[in-house]
Amino acid sequence: MTARFVVSGTDTGIGKTVFSAALTNALGSFYWKPVQSGLDEETDAETVRRLGAVPAERIVPEAYRLATPASPHLSARLDGITIDPETLTPPHVDGPLVIEGAGGLMVPLSERLVFADLFAQWKIPVIVCARTTLGTINHTLLCIEAMRHRAIPIFGIAFIGDENLETEKIIVQLSGVRSLGRLPIIPDLTTAGLGKAFRENFDIDIFADARP
Ligand SMILES: Nc1ncnc2c1ncn2[C@@H]1O[C@H](COP(=O)(O)OP(=O)(O)O)[C@@H](O)[C@H]1O
Ligand SMILES: [Mg+2]
Repeated sequence: MTARFVVSGTDTGIGKTVFSAALTNALGSFYWKPVQSGLDEETDAETVRRLGAVPAERIVPEAYRLATPASPHLSARLDGITIDPETLTPPHVDGPLVIEGAGGLMVPLSERLVFADLFAQWKIPVIVCARTTLGTINHTLLCIEAMRHRAIPIFGIAFIGDENLETEKIIVQLSGVRSLGRLPIIPDLTTAGLGKAFRENFDIDIFADARP
């Protein structure tokens, strides 16, 4: 079986989709966003397709497309549905797969289920996306502790943002989780610019060689 990754992290709006676009492009992988909350703006799958120049056939359709940009448990309720975890099984695809969660690790899918519960069942290595700005040490270490508590496999941390060496160092040191690299802020976010930044800052072989 080829490599599969879950892209999660500390928070929403930290760059998971941009990172996923870069990784999907670099690996030539499939991309799946199981639950999309909010359909008025460009969806995450559409962003990945555009920014990562990913062919349509490598974008796996979402299991849930919810109208309201809110926590999935609430978006689902507002749409009059309940998210059934049985329907959130990673798809079988002919190649590597990048799965992006919604928001952060502990975001609820229903009254009883958070994303971390799914990740624990899936046993697919998680890439922990973390900002480099103030507040990230606490959030990242909490995430990693919660993942260990649930025996979720951790592939590594992908930092996103301007260089902050001391922050990155202390997170790696205290968590014992490796840094995969840091995606800088790219002023002109294009497919080419993103691809270049990813190649310069991450070793694609680490991802390509990963086996579940
Ligand atoms: N490396 C980056 N360089 C420049 N802008 C970025 C970068 N990463 C994210 N952004 C911008 O930040 C916003 C949130 O990013 P996104 O990937 O959608 O976050 P998330 O998936 O974690 O919610 C978007 O407007 C995106 O274009
Ligand atoms: Mg996203």
